[in-house]
Amino acid sequence: MFDALEMAPPDPILGLTEAFKNDANPDKINLSVGVYKDASGTTPVLASVKEAERRILDSESSKSYMPITGSPDYGKAVQHLMFGADHEVVTSGRAVTAHCPGGTGALRVVGNYLSENHSGVSIWMSNPTWANHGAIFKAAGVEVKSYPYFDAATNSLDFDAMCAALKEIPAGDVVLLHGCCHNPTGVDPTPDQWNAVADIVAERKFIPLVDFAYQGFATGIDEDATGLRALARPGSELFVCSSFSKNFGLYRERVGALTVVAGSADTAKVVNSLVKVSIRRNYSNPPAHGAGIVVEILGDAALRQQWENELTEMRERINGMRKLFADTLAAKGKTLPGGDNSFITKQNGMFSFSGLNKDQVNRLKDEKSIYIVGSGRINVAGMTESNMDSLCDAIVEVL
Ligand code: LMR
Repeated sequence: MFDALEMAPPDPILGLTEAFKNDANPDKINLSVGVYKDASGTTPVLASVKEAERRILDSESSKSYMPITGSPDYGKAVQHLMFGADHEVVTSGRAVTAHCPGGTGALRVVGNYLSENHSGVSIWMSNPTWANHGAIFKAAGVEVKSYPYFDAATNSLDFDAMCAALKEIPAGDVVLLHGCCHNPTGVDPTPDQWNAVADIVAERKFIPLVDFAYQGFATGIDEDATGLRALARPGSELFVCSSFSKNFGLYRERVGALTVVAGSADTAKVVNSLVKVSIRRNYSNPPAHGAGIVVEILGDAALRQQWENELTEMRERINGMRKLFADTLAAKGKTLPGGDNSFITKQNGMFSFSGLNKDQVNRLKDEKSIYIVGSGRINVAGMTESNMDSLCDAIVEVL
């Protein structure tokens, strides 16, 4: 069975971390995978998470299976954080949430759900998008198409081209939008632009799928939900694939969610039953631990405050590194392709789309042991005050 097989290529993002681990250079820098690092270059377990885990260890009385869609308390916590507890989609019961293993797990559940229940539907993705998006939906048997998003010449959103393309998308197709901190570009629509997108959705009647993996990493918990909430109009239908990997630092616990908003609470129940079928065939039911941490933190005022402070600290460190990166390049008299470096501080979240081309990215890896995703996406959270100077020297050299 196996002798004729050929080796699969390494993953464009996680494969770089494997290569980084095997690199013997003591000055190596990993700016590839989207994982937060603190000023010392480590990915910490948040203090609020540690405390929640202590409480769970003390009170946990069973390791029996979770329900197929996870704990109802978790579903409620997810919805309240994303929409606000008083939002109509929450109070009406139009939203149903399944705990999925990470945002990636949630995306795959949508893919399976679509191919099992809505044959012929295509999913449209921004160009560019996260390197794994297309593969997830193709593997689930859903046709993948793209719409324009990024203007490389100005390092900004090509909103006119995006809207023109959205206006041509057939009713009933699914359109993937990044809720905030667009991966890989870091370029998000403004609140007005989100409203304009929501108008097009209402007019064209396609279904948004909001990938919401970075809530709290751009401006704040509520501010970062502006786009999602703009889309959640009365009567709207949408999917949301969310994740607590980044904002709770729970990467390896695989704690994400699929939320479906249907036209009515009754329809939401029907969709939920079909989502359960897709999940049961896929991984049966989710792991409990990470979701328990989130429920514990969000349900306790003091712990929640501690978590919000830790989230603010992460966001501020990233923004500080953005500024230092732009300033250090400027001090060396260099601008990145496609701008005057001011775009670095305007982008949101962990990622900066640097404009570095494949050859430059390869040289940084081969000659300097600096790991950046092939698209030129840089994880700003991997920068520290101590690696900034050598990083910028290396970038200047390859430019
Ligand atoms: C990333 O884009 O680096 C993260 O979302 C992690 C991943 O799984 O690729």
